[in-house]
Amino acid sequence: MSVTRPPSPARKATRAGAPQAPQDPAVRPVRRGDLDSIVALDARVTGLEKRAYWGSLYRRYGASMRAERQFLVADAGGRVVGFIIGEVRDWEFGAAPCGWVFAIDVHPDARLAGTGARLLAAICAGFRRAGVAKVRTMLSRDNNLVLSFFRSQGMMTGPFIPLEMDLDALPRDPAAGPAR
Ligand SMILES: CC(C)(COP(=O)(O)OP(=O)(O)OC[C@H]1O[C@@H](n2cnc3c(N)ncnc32)[C@H](O)[C@@H]1OP(=O)(O)O)[C@@H](O)C(=O)NCCC(=O)NCCS
Repeated sequence: MSVTRPPSPARKATRAGAPQAPQDPAVRPVRRGDLDSIVALDARVTGLEKRAYWGSLYRRYGASMRAERQFLVADAGGRVVGFIIGEVRDWEFGAAPCGWVFAIDVHPDARLAGTGARLLAAICAGFRRAGVAKVRTMLSRDNNLVLSFFRSQGMMTGPFIPLEMDLDALPRDPAAGPAR
């Protein structure tokens, strides 16, 4: 993907590299004190509150000092209005090390102002610093909003296809004993 393509005149002046307006949120690493806002933002977007999950992500990605793991927030004057999480994964699916973005959310009140693009640009800059040259993500095929966003940033269909099946369709593991 490329987040460095020249912005078209129609694209907002808030893209990475463009001067920020004073009211533009700053992108910074997450802090423990951001967790309540993140839990609330995710609950608003997904309809599910997952406090333990976000605490665990904070410990794995936020508190990590490794450049390969990033948990960034968009901070608008002390209010968290968005976040992005990703990491560099080595040789998964046989692919050379690359950055994976696995969560992005911008508060509904703060959308369409360049915040998502700024978060993505920041995590991509971090991936570059970590030494990789590619970023990937995965999304639900009916999430047109997120698809439009990633496409607008230059991401395109990659060389992998996702596969899945229900484990109930498999014969039970004989070593697990009889089904109860
Ligand atoms: C996708 C999302 C992160 C975009 O954040 P944002 O701050 O509004 O995005 P930006 O303002 O930076 O928009 C960048 C580009 O994305 C595209 N885009 C964003 N929202 C769009 C929309 N509603 N319709 C069409 N295109 C859109 C546009 O091309 C836009 O560029 P433009 O404003 O110059 O036209 C935000 O809408 C969101 O959090 N959605 C819910 C995410 C979600 O479901 N997360 C859970 C799974 S990880």
